[in-house]
Amino acid sequence: MAKEKTVKELEDLPGIGETTAAKLRSAGIDNLEKVATSSPHELSELAGIGVDAAKKAIQTAREATTVDYETGSQIMEKRLILGKITTSSKDLDSLIGGGIETNAITETYGKFSSGKTQLGFQLCINVQLKKEKGGLEGRVLFIDTEGTFRPERLKDIAKAKGLNAEEALDNVIYVRAETTEKQILTLERADKLIQEKNIKLIIIDSLTALFRAEFIGRGALGERQQKLNMHIHRLQGLADKYNLAVYVTNQVMDNPGILFGDPTTPIGGNVMAHAAATRLYMRKSKEDKRIVRLVDSPSMPEGECVIRITTEGIKG
Ligand code: GTP
Ligand code: MG
Repeated sequence: MAKEKTVKELEDLPGIGETTAAKLRSAGIDNLEKVATSSPHELSELAGIGVDAAKKAIQTAREATTVDYETGSQIMEKRLILGKITTSSKDLDSLIGGGIETNAITETYGKFSSGKTQLGFQLCINVQLKKEKGGLEGRVLFIDTEGTFRPERLKDIAKAKGLNAEEALDNVIYVRAETTEKQILTLERADKLIQEKNIKLIIIDSLTALFRAEFIGRGALGERQQKLNMHIHRLQGLADKYNLAVYVTNQVMDNPGILFGDPTTPIGGNVMAHAAATRLYMRKSKEDKRIVRLVDSPSMPEGECVIRITTEGIKG
């Protein structure tokens, strides 16, 4: 019955063969959307085909590409299936609207020992909990760029939550990334793992450290930001596609430009500032207390709360 073949690649368009497709690709027209939005004259010139042939190719590309319109209520429905992972602190959960949300990136930044990694460990365990206990009944992919992963610590936290410690550890899939290349590739290749292992949380601790260390000096800043941006884009893509949560940590630098208030600024500039839906600033307080400040959120007002880092994990 089906007379028309499905159009997926440039080569499937009428009048576009392998050589023409290669020409287009090298000119940056590498997908159907780009053909669909080209002008006939532009396409004709780039591909070396006649204007009429170009018109036909564009028309076919337009028919083959769709724009997904959604209504407000469809989005609302999607939001209802959004999951949340408890942080194990009631106050912190309420501050951020119920927990660490899926389909979004949550970032913590702060100085050393402020508790960013510890919160990540807690989430490694909590994501495994039953839904009624604040989990997502899933596994976690932990990308460690700093070598600060501590399985024995995870065991303590798991036991405190009433989980079998060995099983809980087996549900944490760990990658040690020593270079930005490995960090980037791990995400590029994560699709299969995410589906097979029911990954419901991706942690990158720290997201920015390697980028900062590898791209040094003013000359490298542009490239760093560009690579970081693509990496974050990919993270957000995975979060959306698989309805999973993303937790990333970030360092701070002293900002001598600020005379009053707290002179610390997160690394990563604008690229990072736009990346995370929820941004949390953590700082040390007395003893085991940490102050968590909600800096940015799509739906919650700014505010602060206090959590505690204990041997059993996060409390407060
Ligand atoms: P950097 O990675 O250095 O930037 O810091 P961070 O923000 O990741 O700090 P991290 O989460 O590693 O917090 C370290 C702090 O957690 C330590 O200073 C301790 O106060 C606390 N901590 C770590 N392990 C334990 C533990 O087993 N028991 C208790 N009670 N506290 C712990
Ligand atoms: Mg850390």
